[in-house]
Amino acid sequence: MSFSAGRGFPSNRPRRLRRTAALRRAVAETRVHPADLVLPMFVREGLSEPRAIASMPGVMQHTRDSLRKAVVSAVNAGVGGVMIFGVPETRDADGSGADDPNGILNVAIRDIIAEVGDSTVVISDLCLDEFTSHGHCGVLTASGAVDNDATLERYASMALAQAAAGAHVLGASGMMDGQIGHVRGVLDASGDTDTALLAYAAKYASACYGPFRDAVESALEGDRRTYQQDPANATEALREVRLDIAEGADIVMVKPAGPYLDILSRVAAESEVPVAAYQVSGEYAMIEAAAEKGWIDRERMIVESVTSIKRAGAQMICTYWAEELAELLRTGY
Ligand code: PBG
Repeated sequence: MSFSAGRGFPSNRPRRLRRTAALRRAVAETRVHPADLVLPMFVREGLSEPRAIASMPGVMQHTRDSLRKAVVSAVNAGVGGVMIFGVPETRDADGSGADDPNGILNVAIRDIIAEVGDSTVVISDLCLDEFTSHGHCGVLTASGAVDNDATLERYASMALAQAAAGAHVLGASGMMDGQIGHVRGVLDASGDTDTALLAYAAKYASACYGPFRDAVESALEGDRRTYQQDPANATEALREVRLDIAEGADIVMVKPAGPYLDILSRVAAESEVPVAAYQVSGEYAMIEAAAEKGWIDRERMIVESVTSIKRAGAQMICTYWAEELAELLRTGY
């Protein structure tokens, strides 16, 4: 066979289907839909005006009132859900604001449910780090280690408060062993068999969470490497996912998303429950910063990064661009 160009070779020309935007659209294998997107949002106790978060341009700490309005706006843009993080005014070692029915996260969940009911999916963050003075995701032993089993009791108490406030899904983001099984057991024993659990099954100890800690004003003492996963490991993520599904997870999540697409792809291949991915604060901030410098095309980068997360296998994508992207997609990006 001769391979000289121009005499019928090449006859296979993939470029034919890339020639026009309409052809490319017609053969696209992956389409992001607004309903795939979940918008993470912050509500800060004691604020009278929404406050900008310096390291996350475009993202706000909301007041209770501005949060309600922002949720309505996101729902009207077509996003699939919202994920709510509470920022308390005061913190203590046990994170007692977290399971207080009048704590900021629980009141905000009640506010939102009163406003939008079942018209969207309301996910509440089930973790202690926003509420503890030391910034860890659990309570500490006398020697300062994160106490796994004592933390499970705190998560169960938070779960009851969040479920009572009306959250549809509880996002268990603390990476304690047994958190899904324990919380599910306590919810079920209370008669609540309906509130769903989203397990941050494969959550890595990542440098990409820096801006989030600004957003929730957390001054973390030390780091989270004794409970979040080592970025070097992939097989371990599959084990975490298998355990969480066995314990009753309704959805499993991989986090961060962009640097962990290999993990996402492997989890999606094995999981029998829906798979979510979280494009986290640092992924957001890196793209916003480069775009601000004029070094990348912001909108193209947003669409490309989220499309890649979907292509790798995520059914739900948590992204701070959820509302903007939903609008972009609706107006035919
Ligand atoms: C823990 C939690 C974190 C994030 C979501 N839930 C912080 C952490 O684990 O250090 C980070 C999300 C982001 O960076 O956007 N409750």
